[in-house]
Amino acid sequence: MFPNHRPRRLRRTPAVRRLVSETEVRPRQLLLPMFVKEGATEPLPIASMPGVVQHTRDTLRKAAVEAVAAGVGGIMLFGVPQVRDATGSGGIDPDGVLNTSLRDLRAELGDDTVLMSDLCLDEFTDHGHCGVLDDHGVVDNDATLAIYADMALAQADAGAQYLGPSGMMDGQVGVIREALDAAGHIDTGILAYSVKYASAFFGPFRDAVESQLDGDRTGYQQDPANVREALREAHLDLNEGADMVMVKPALAYLDVIRAVREVSDVPVAAYQVSGEYAMVEAAAANGWIDRKRAVLESLTSIRRAGADVILSYWAVEAAGWLRD
Ligand code: PBG
Repeated sequence: MFPNHRPRRLRRTPAVRRLVSETEVRPRQLLLPMFVKEGATEPLPIASMPGVVQHTRDTLRKAAVEAVAAGVGGIMLFGVPQVRDATGSGGIDPDGVLNTSLRDLRAELGDDTVLMSDLCLDEFTDHGHCGVLDDHGVVDNDATLAIYADMALAQADAGAQYLGPSGMMDGQVGVIREALDAAGHIDTGILAYSVKYASAFFGPFRDAVESQLDGDRTGYQQDPANVREALREAHLDLNEGADMVMVKPALAYLDVIRAVREVSDVPVAAYQVSGEYAMVEAAAANGWIDRKRAVLESLTSIRRAGADVILSYWAVEAAGWLRD
């Protein structure tokens, strides 16, 4: 009797498929990235990310409360300043857009929501790079680290519970950890963007934070061709004291998520980035793809690859679907 092995028996009914499903996505595992724009009087749509907005201080608070009520595990906040300069001083200013809204959210949400903040200069510099430039226009690693340390203190003071250094400077996790500890912020954690590729999939994010980049980020973000380098970055961040490590983008780097999962003894996060969002939204808007299925399938794939936590612009909507 051929075939004598029939895998389809385990797929026959919804009941058996539910029983043997290997991977789950739970709302609590999703983090929502949010944008707040300085001086905005109404939420502003982001053209390349339909459904995502730059919040006002006020709508941010409300949307964050709704996200928590929907069951998401936490929030990652990005600030969009009105004025930018060469050193990104708006990121250090306690009254800058990001720090102000962190304070708002911490007051609104209390301790029982995981509140994270992006720790990078690209939103705050007029040249759009993730660090300050030297005389030759190259991002100066160590001068940037000193600014990251100050940003870390400002964000911790403002109430961020986890800081997400995303600038890919060497030593950023160690410098931030040392600064936090020295100031007594021993409970403030670090979600290290350990593995971050120089990716075309960050394209729509530039709209989201209105950043104009001169040149590119290939001098500090990683070459998409490399996986050994990803493990080296992850090991360094673990040694420097990262509480969680992240791989970014997600869908084009599932093998990297898996590889990092295998060497990491802390939670692994993956960032489903702006371009991943935009691709599905654009295809769905044209009727070329089933939006809900595509979103849930990508989230499941990222979890299956080994991510414990996923940052996703669909976090709230997906949490709604996954609760039912
Ligand atoms: C840097 C940062 C970026 C993103 C998150 N943090 C932009 C970049 O490095 O180019 C991208 C997020 C996304 O594309 O959704 N502050």
